[in-house]
Amino acid sequence: MVRGVAGGGGLMRVGVVGCGHVGLVTAAALAHLGHEVLATDADHEKLALLARGGVPFFEPGLAELVAEQVAAGRLGFAPETADVVRGRELVLICVGTPPRDDGEANLAAVERVARAIARAATGPLVVVEKSTVPVGTAERVRRTLERERPDVRFEVASNPEFLREGRAVRDALSPDRIVVGAETEEARAALRRLYEPLTRAGHRLIETDIATAELAKHACNAFLATKVSFVNALARICERAGADVRAVAAVMGSDPRIGPQFLEAGLGWGGYCFPKDLAAFGRLAGDLGYPFPLLEEVARINDEAVAATLEKVRDALWTLEDKRVALLGLAFKPDTDDVRFSPALALAELLLREGASVVGYDPHAAAAAKAELPEMCVTEDPYEAAADAHCAVVCTAWDEVRSLDLERLRAVMRYPILVDGRNALDGERAAALGFSYHPIGRPSLDGGGVR
Ligand code: UDX
Repeated sequence: MVRGVAGGGGLMRVGVVGCGHVGLVTAAALAHLGHEVLATDADHEKLALLARGGVPFFEPGLAELVAEQVAAGRLGFAPETADVVRGRELVLICVGTPPRDDGEANLAAVERVARAIARAATGPLVVVEKSTVPVGTAERVRRTLERERPDVRFEVASNPEFLREGRAVRDALSPDRIVVGAETEEARAALRRLYEPLTRAGHRLIETDIATAELAKHACNAFLATKVSFVNALARICERAGADVRAVAAVMGSDPRIGPQFLEAGLGWGGYCFPKDLAAFGRLAGDLGYPFPLLEEVARINDEAVAATLEKVRDALWTLEDKRVALLGLAFKPDTDDVRFSPALALAELLLREGASVVGYDPHAAAAAKAELPEMCVTEDPYEAAADAHCAVVCTAWDEVRSLDLERLRAVMRYPILVDGRNALDGERAAALGFSYHPIGRPSLDGGGVR
């Protein structure tokens, strides 16, 4: 991993607007590379927490990195956008672009920030859009900046992030690629300087025009979501044909043109990026005159993955009213406490609607899940969640879930029924212990514990 190596002429004074999953990780990573970074957020409670040395969400290695960079004097936090703009040469916009009801990205925060940046600019400034935005946004940002402050020279660039939650620190400090969309040599030169410690260490920087960079981010997320939905549709077919989706995926993945990643069938994708980016990309394509119904189908298959898992629970339990169902894992994927658009919560809602009582376990996301779905009970102990349950469903493949003591689980549950929504457990062993085991895209195993 590259360590603080920017120095001398390479060091930049950088402002970051937005301290969410993207902004905070980016700010800490750029400080780690040697830059002097000042970050802000509209949420002053979040800033107060950061000032006290806390981090507002769970991300492996982030709290340590932030603390280290604050102590080194390279990373600081300030209350207003103007504070992180004045006297800076480069400012990154990392604010949220939440979905509107029709799927279109809401760019109100981006516009607000662009105006605030313009008003506070004290000299030539490179403004970099890092939030995931529809193609054409950087041009709008440029126009906003110039309208507000015709007296200042602004350079605008698009620098989409590809950080995965749970691996964001590693992804930021050891990226597969850095994408820089810019139209002027000044903007390109500034971004090259910003990432020089990484490119010097061999990380690839791809330079494009702005529209290409903006579009590439949506294309990546839409393609990855398509890959997962493809394998989930395949799982439905395997279940009907008596085949094993994991083995089919292994054959597919051994073809280098396909690759083995993102071929794990299960409850489907969630999180803050895929659902909103897929909807925004579909909407954008339509607005550009190219309706892209494939993307709607990808989203439909993803919803179906949750419905199919519910069907397995219903099949095993007959009726759901007054049944107790334990959900093992609530975060949208392991190594994060993020429950936004989590398939586990979508399943919990369906179960609750059918009259089941739901107890959710998660090692890090229990509190966030409770806040999102108060009707569900939550616990940080998997055996407590499973106690007296008629059925347990694996929703998130945490290591803590993969390594559950199945014998102990069997002992505390009322009925020995396991629905493995992530193909995370050893089904043979579960069946040997008497569980009736229902994986995804593979034949069920009946351990004979219940008839
Ligand atoms: C994603 C992109 O990967 C990242 O580049 C972008 O910047 C932000 O969006 P993230 O949302 O953190 O990152 O999750 P990711 O690791 O990509 O997983 C997305 C979803 O797909 C998760 O819900 C995951 O559980 C699911 N998934 C992934 C599967 O269901 N099966 C797989 O085989 C892989």
